[in-house]
Amino acid sequence: MDKDRALIICSLSAILYSTIVGSAPAPADVDCSRRQDFNAVRGCCTIPTFHFKAFQKQCGRYMPESGPRVSPCLYDCIFNATGVLTGSEVDAENARSMLKRLLGNNQDFVDVYLDGMLQCPGAVDAMLRSKRPRPMPGVEQCSPVPLYYGICTTKHMFNYCPSSSWSDTELCETARLQNLHCPTMRASRGGGPRPI
Ligand SMILES: *[C@@H]1O[C@H](CO)[C@@H](O)[C@H](O)[C@H]1NC(C)=O
Repeated sequence: MDKDRALIICSLSAILYSTIVGSAPAPADVDCSRRQDFNAVRGCCTIPTFHFKAFQKQCGRYMPESGPRVSPCLYDCIFNATGVLTGSEVDAENARSMLKRLLGNNQDFVDVYLDGMLQCPGAVDAMLRSKRPRPMPGVEQCSPVPLYYGICTTKHMFNYCPSSSWSDTELCETARLQNLHCPTMRASRGGGPRPI
């Protein structure tokens, strides 16, 4: 009798165990050693154009005539103008209004970027700590932190791209799963998408 009961409990545990394990993502399917081809994955998530001109008045001097160029100073200036950071804390309301100005009516993108902003402090801190001591010439007066938020949120956007803007190919899906499940990919700054 006791033997039977033990057997039943044992099989129930096995079923329960496989149910729990089965419902979790399967990182074992993801090949973390496969390198990502930046040019191949850059089109996976179609991001709306950032409307930097919305900050022309305050930050126009960091927007050269020859078209939009991403610089630490431009990001720093926009963060300053909108009060996104209080010390090292992200102000969610100010971040949302900055994103609305940059992205217009793309509500789903505003939401994902905001979510990224709130999750990025750790990654930004890691980038700051691994930064080379000597800054790039000409940008000494600007903090690199806002640009690091740009890099981190771009990666977040890649991983949580609104489905209507996501190119559902095997290549893109593999890159996304790698980002989500491979620790080295998550930490690395290479291979992933670049900031806009
Ligand atoms: C942003 O604000 C900080 C602190 O006031 C200042 O040091 C920095 O120069 C400002 N950045 C820009 C681009 O104006």
